[in-house]
Amino acid sequence: MTAVAIDANRLWERIEALSRITDPDRPWTRRSFSPLFLKGREWLVSEFRAGGLETTVDAAGNLVGRLDGSDPHLKPIVIGSHSDTVPSGGRYDGILGVLAGLEVAQSLVERGERLRHPLEIYDFLAEEPSEFGLSCIGSRALAGMLSASMLDLRRPDGMSLREGLAYVGGDPESLASVKRSPDGTAAYVEVHIEQGRVLEQEGTAIGIVTDIVGIHRERITVKGRADHAGATPMPLRADALVGAAHIVGTVYARALADSNKPLVATIGKLDVLPNAANAVPGEVEMVLEVRCGDEAATRTFGKTLIEEVRPSLEALRLEVQAEPVSHASPTPCAPVVRDAIRAAASSLGLSSRDLPSGAGHDGVFVALTGPIGMIFVPCRDGRSHAPEESIEPHQAADGARVLFETVRRLDATLG
Ligand code: GLV
Ligand code: MN
Ligand code: MN
Repeated sequence: MTAVAIDANRLWERIEALSRITDPDRPWTRRSFSPLFLKGREWLVSEFRAGGLETTVDAAGNLVGRLDGSDPHLKPIVIGSHSDTVPSGGRYDGILGVLAGLEVAQSLVERGERLRHPLEIYDFLAEEPSEFGLSCIGSRALAGMLSASMLDLRRPDGMSLREGLAYVGGDPESLASVKRSPDGTAAYVEVHIEQGRVLEQEGTAIGIVTDIVGIHRERITVKGRADHAGATPMPLRADALVGAAHIVGTVYARALADSNKPLVATIGKLDVLPNAANAVPGEVEMVLEVRCGDEAATRTFGKTLIEEVRPSLEALRLEVQAEPVSHASPTPCAPVVRDAIRAAASSLGLSSRDLPSGAGHDGVFVALTGPIGMIFVPCRDGRSHAPEESIEPHQAADGARVLFETVRRLDATLG
């Protein structure tokens, strides 16, 4: 096998072009299920087609580009990531993996090199938590885990997820067509920025992900009483935000005490009602997110938290309730894919090391359909989910080259 020259300039130009499709007032923002998201998708469809890929949107709203393989009996090798962003996020989280996949596929086409396996490039729908409160929507559907009750979730403007899927070109009534069997994928590989500091601090070019952290989310609601902020004496108030602030502080302290697990917990989303300067907050809804390699720890954190804070909240005349929103188990990456990534990096003369992913990824759901692996590249200061997220063109190219060599190795060895 000769080393492959992907077109590094084309990859970088595409990264820049897609990242510029952003809400101008909140760079870098391309929220799933928004008109901007569809604009990004339209651009991606034309690039996928220009790259020689047969391109469709599946029933779950995933954009899929495909190249046939030479052996019709083989399952597809899948490359993927996502084109949606968090609000005011970065330019590379997600799109790097989609565009590196496109670059690999287009380079194969241009070289006249046909894999034995079909090759599929996925832009998974809504990897980041969407306005429906759910993340990894497209990859969940691949694993048959997008349930009917999830389709009934509504975003604040009233749209249901069922309607949202149709809005992005999916078909909520045909989700069964997307579901894969547990051995439906020959292998899945995703290139992503590390979103941490390990690779940069060590000067290592490539991270080989060992496992993806488990993520548990719960909706916590604190109910008090909305009142006039001038006319209600302090001892008579039931201020839901005061209770919420107590919960936020307790989450922080408990997670800090458990940080050796390692466990992290965050309350990053709060909705305050009525949210007016001159009204006592009557209700606060917030999302608690707990991440840990120990699955039981992610589930028990919220339960014991509520037990701990309830007496203090009752003393403030507040009620508190918690209900689970989503749960993703910690997911190991498969040795067969990890070994292929390691061999690929070494064949290209690039340094590599194993490391876990503290971020969630679509691979958690794709793993229910076949072996998965992830290729990390360094990002500046480990910053991510923030506008400062930054990588160098050569780091994007390294990720795409390792992806190419990994896919060729998997194609040669997998049945
Ligand atoms: C995805 O970016 C996540 O880790 O939440
Ligand atoms: Mn992200
Ligand atoms: Mn991501």
